Amino acid sequence: MIADHGHIRLALPITGEEEIEEIRAVLASGYLAQGPKVAEFERMVADYVGVRHAFATTSATTALHLSLVVLGIGRGDEVLVPDFTFPATANVVVQQGATPVLVDIDLDTFTVNVDDMAAKVTSHTRAIMPVHGFGLSANMNPIMKLAAKHGLPVVEDAATAIGTTYYGKKCGSMGTLNCFSFHPRKAITTGEGGMILTDDDALAEKIQLLRSHGGVRREGRFTFEAAGFNYRMSDILAAVGVAQMRRLDGLIARRRELVALMSEKLRAVEGVKTPVEPAWGGHVYQSYVVLLDEGIDRDGVIKAMKERGVETTLGTYALHAQPFFARKYGYRAGDLPKSYRAYRHSLTLPVYPPMEKEHLDRVVQTLRWAIDSMGKYNG
Ligand SMILES: Cc1ncc(COP(=O)(O)O)c(C=O)c1O
Repeated sequence: MIADHGHIRLALPITGEEEIEEIRAVLASGYLAQGPKVAEFERMVADYVGVRHAFATTSATTALHLSLVVLGIGRGDEVLVPDFTFPATANVVVQQGATPVLVDIDLDTFTVNVDDMAAKVTSHTRAIMPVHGFGLSANMNPIMKLAAKHGLPVVEDAATAIGTTYYGKKCGSMGTLNCFSFHPRKAITTGEGGMILTDDDALAEKIQLLRSHGGVRREGRFTFEAAGFNYRMSDILAAVGVAQMRRLDGLIARRRELVALMSEKLRAVEGVKTPVEPAWGGHVYQSYVVLLDEGIDRDGVIKAMKERGVETTLGTYALHAQPFFARKYGYRAGDLPKSYRAYRHSLTLPVYPPMEKEHLDRVVQTLRWAIDSMGKYNG
């Protein structure tokens, strides 16, 4: 149901009989909490990405939080975070009592600007969190070099980036710890869910312990060795994940096909900059995000398109311009200018399997009409 009563939705997860069959088998097994299905899902993702350890969690947010906990990030520490991201990336730093140091982005990729990142390293910096933007990898080589120079761990926020590659290397395999999301707007979904991936055996042991109450079975007995969390995924959700993993490469291929068509169609629309794939490639287009000219009232466009039955949204948030971060750290809107520009003028358009050419045509026509009816370049 892409065009529900003529209404085109922003995103649509693909599920079917395969997911239902997997859930049915879990319900019949009686293992409904974390059990063999979670282990199967973790193995599938670990093998796909090419890492040794994978731990399913309740969300990417809890995956990111647990990553900072096992790295020992705490009070007085600074963590470098791109300003243009979903707030969860920085919220988990704040929750640990540490300070997220916000870094500007590059407008062509919507990912972190490595020069600004390098300039913001201090003697208090304890970790770097690059964010892969809308399914495109951040520029990981210079980021890993910077991290190595200062001896810092890297936590990839790969929430949008399962299947994304960087010069052929899978996202989720490059950082010290790497986190995926399985929220329904991602390439594959479990409803809610996340995962931490790592090749570090010692960190893996800590994640295992802290994900489940700090409890561990030693010599046949359960003992509690840390004040842990319950960040476990249920086998019911992992069942969906297993079926979704089988679809992943096909879904990505279809997304890339639709994106090529969409970018071609948008070439004729003035004031719209379509996404570019940088030298490192590997964009999976979890979201199709364009940048509108500064004179176009983006929020007006969103509203107008909605009235014509096409759902769109902003790209993501400039954290420094959100009330919480502005108040707590004394930022003023526009302090990180590229991120602020992206926050004000980025627009996510519906482009996803199983849309067809006619749906894309309608999105493009509606966008063109919305921009024109806004009274373009009126500030
Ligand atoms: C970059 C980024 N990080 C983290 C998250 C949080 O993911 P979750 O909803 O799985 O907690 C999101 C969600 O949209 C995201 O886009």
